[in-house]
Amino acid sequence: MKFTSALVTGLLATSASAVFDKWAPWGKRDYHCLNVYQGVPENATLAPNWPVEIGFNRASGRCDAIYDQFPTSNYSVWLYNNPVRVNGFVQQDYRVKLVDGIPPDAGRVTISLPSDLPEVDDDTVWYIRLDTWLPTAPQTPSFFNAQGPFALNR
Ligand SMILES: *[C@@H]1O[C@H](CO)[C@@H](O)[C@H](O)[C@H]1NC(C)=O
Ligand SMILES: *[C@@H]1O[C@H](CO)[C@@H](O)[C@H](O)[C@H]1NC(C)=O
Repeated sequence: MKFTSALVTGLLATSASAVFDKWAPWGKRDYHCLNVYQGVPENATLAPNWPVEIGFNRASGRCDAIYDQFPTSNYSVWLYNNPVRVNGFVQQDYRVKLVDGIPPDAGRVTISLPSDLPEVDDDTVWYIRLDTWLPTAPQTPSFFNAQGPFALNR
């Protein structure tokens, strides 16, 4: 009995520490500088083809003011399944670009999950990453915001 409960505790601790930190950089010179004020609620469940409007801007309050003078390029929205961080870079079971070419002044984009997503091991660890980059800033950093985890109900 004792052994069983110790084992269960150990497993829980392992899975808790494995929760993906969506706010940490996803790669080199990647900054959590975008604000999403409307989007996919944490722990939501989405169905395919269900439209979700994402409202965003650069007013995150988290960003070094030195970047304010540099315009962003177009924005993109990516869908990730089960992102994990390996040596400071994010890897995932599946990734697809949902939208690109979003003009910097758009401020909103409507996305939906494709109905033909491949089978994955865990349909409860989907994330959306909104990102762009600063083509004229030193070292051309990328800016992002991440939403999730959310579940896909197929
Ligand atoms: C989402 O679920 C996690 C794990 O149960 C929990 O820690 C977190 O507070 C939840 N988020 C919200 C917004 O309820
Ligand atoms: C930005 O997206 C628009 C379409 O919305 C496209 O015409 C333009 O070429 C893109 N610009 C860059 C730099 O990718």
